[in-house]
Amino acid sequence: MDIRNGPSAAIYAHIVGWGMAVPDGVLSNADLEAIVETSDEWIRTRTGIRERRIAGERDSTASLGLRAAQRALDVADLHPTEIDLIIVATSTPENIFPSTASLIQHWLGATKAGAFDLSAACSGFVYGVEMAAQAIRAGGIQTAVIIGAETMTRVLDWQDRGTCILFGDGAGAVVLRASPTPGGVLSSVLRSDGSGSDLLGIPTVGSEDLRHSDFHVQNGHRLGKMFMNGGEVFKFATRVIGESITQALDKAGLTLTDVSLIVPHQANLRIIQAAARALKVDSDLFVSNLDRYGNTSAASIPIALCEAIEQGRVKDDQHIVFVGFGGGLTWAAMVIKWTGARPPEPGASTLIKQQRRQASYLWARWQTQLRRLNRRISDFLARFLPIQRQKPDQD
Ligand code: UT7
Repeated sequence: MDIRNGPSAAIYAHIVGWGMAVPDGVLSNADLEAIVETSDEWIRTRTGIRERRIAGERDSTASLGLRAAQRALDVADLHPTEIDLIIVATSTPENIFPSTASLIQHWLGATKAGAFDLSAACSGFVYGVEMAAQAIRAGGIQTAVIIGAETMTRVLDWQDRGTCILFGDGAGAVVLRASPTPGGVLSSVLRSDGSGSDLLGIPTVGSEDLRHSDFHVQNGHRLGKMFMNGGEVFKFATRVIGESITQALDKAGLTLTDVSLIVPHQANLRIIQAAARALKVDSDLFVSNLDRYGNTSAASIPIALCEAIEQGRVKDDQHIVFVGFGGGLTWAAMVIKWTGARPPEPGASTLIKQQRRQASYLWARWQTQLRRLNRRISDFLARFLPIQRQKPDQD
């Protein structure tokens, strides 16, 4: 598809697909009462959370992200080979490398896509959408899949009641596509303040403190486990939500009265209510589903978006705002003009396209086995058969 009408024709980046996936396992506040000294009452009144999803043995960040991406492709009615770029925003990647995005790229059969993970904690999804939108508007790519996927329950310190009651697992994804029609991603504000890196984080292998043989960092933070200064993060969050929304709206030439819906990162209901007070808007303007999922970090905004669409809260030509905040510290706000994307009508051609996508997923799984077998056979032949090996410097 060539969407440029001329050398100077503008290109816009529109959300044309969306999908979410959460594990089946539910961890209620009552379940947590058996793990740490807490109560359902405390968690509900201080956070708004009633329960969260918890990854089972067969779930992983990539498998949840894959399911969300597949659903987003169904809505967009696109074949995986049409994807140019896959970005996975996550703080709980499958590996340091290979990226979770590369795993998903392969499992989708997205053979023409570049793929990378993006680390901006709970702001990561908004960062990812902005990076992809920039690439689309610059004409470098036409279709991107941006996924927020997390298995936060695997990095929690289950003895720390200040954090373990807050987080849950899940994934959400959108498909972003180039179009000559004005709208889509209108503006964004991405910010970072690394001076707050001691407030919230998960130390890992690059940490200078890995030299300590007990695998504990000096200030008591455990490698691979989350730490957080909840009070300070709370104050930071309530400040930056209002600030960044106003800045993103200014950039788009809009004001709060133009906004129909705000999809915030789902960290704490009290943070959302405080942000609504600061902006002097009704808290109903904000989507909130954290009572059922808790804080799913980079996945929370796309999951909340999917549910808002499902509930009919997102309508054609409306301006909606995403706002994220978290570790880094990072924060990000984005204004989108929703341009009426909707799932394809069921019919013969949709069914055929869906089956072609399923075939692509199956073929990708087979390819993994075939390529690995092929490598093993080649290796075996090279070792045990008298094959003349070429030296690298020979033609
Ligand atoms: O996505 C990343 C962004 N993260 C966030 O945005 C999280 C932001 N922070 C928060 O949501 C809140 O700060 C928390 C929910 C983490 C904590 O709520 P809080 O109202 O700030 O509580 P607190 O830390 O000031 O603690 C108040 C009391 C303390 O007891 P004392 O010292 O007053 O006796 C805590 O020890 O509540 C106690 N407490 C708990 N009690 C029962 C802390 N955690 C718990 C708990 N159950 N889980």
